Amino acid sequence: MNIIEIRNLEKTYVDGDNKNKVIDNLSLNIEEKKFVAITGKSGSGKSTLLNIISGLDTADKGLVMVNGKNIHKPNDAELSSFRANDLGFVFQDFNLIPVLSVYDNIVLPIKISKGNIDRIYIDEVMSMLGIYEKKDVLPGKLSGGQRQRVAIARALANKPSIIMADEPTGNLDKNTGDIVLNLLVEGIRKYNQTLVMVTHDMDIAAKADQILRL
Ligand SMILES: Nc1ncnc2c1ncn2[C@@H]1O[C@H](COP(=O)(O)OP(=O)(O)O)[C@@H](O)[C@H]1O
Ligand SMILES: [Mg+2]
Repeated sequence: MNIIEIRNLEKTYVDGDNKNKVIDNLSLNIEEKKFVAITGKSGSGKSTLLNIISGLDTADKGLVMVNGKNIHKPNDAELSSFRANDLGFVFQDFNLIPVLSVYDNIVLPIKISKGNIDRIYIDEVMSMLGIYEKKDVLPGKLSGGQRQRVAIARALANKPSIIMADEPTGNLDKNTGDIVLNLLVEGIRKYNQTLVMVTHDMDIAAKADQILRL
């Protein structure tokens, strides 16, 4: 079954007289419970595509179906519920809340959606990512790699059916990157997740079930 279906997608950014067509008539399918890697040079629209699929940005034209839902109106109640319950997003620039501790950042999406916090699971994720000892610390006291791991833990926290990760290993050393990759891939089997990952790393892309080149 296709968990994500994209038809004839178009996105243009307009800046004064400059028109930048970032996505041009893109169609693709992503099957559920697969690991899909998105590659392409810098500026090729990888982050834009991930944001549109996640309802964080809107396309100009085309159809985006996720989990059988049409993702087109960002304020749609259905879309909010999809984002809260079905989607985990790892931002390229982390998007952590500076005044909240590591732990509070990780559980924030669950609190907002009034879900149940699986404390044992979250402790396990923090431990595997090597940030358990940092759980009461503010993000400002962390290294870039540690912040990235907090962003990953936050995306995993509510065991969503789809994980969208924008270069999640970009700030990590090889060893930590492998841990993160294994953790994300393990979720496919353990939690029936679909993993969509933007990456520059061809060794990582080679492990995917499908590679999309933009
Ligand atoms: N909010 C925005 N406003 C204007 N231009 C943007 C915006 N976001 C991205 N772009 C432009 O769109 C292109 C694709 O960006 P992006 O999706 O971030 O690429 P990638 O993630 O592949 O590096 C780039 O040229 C970028 O400058
Ligand atoms: Mg990007």
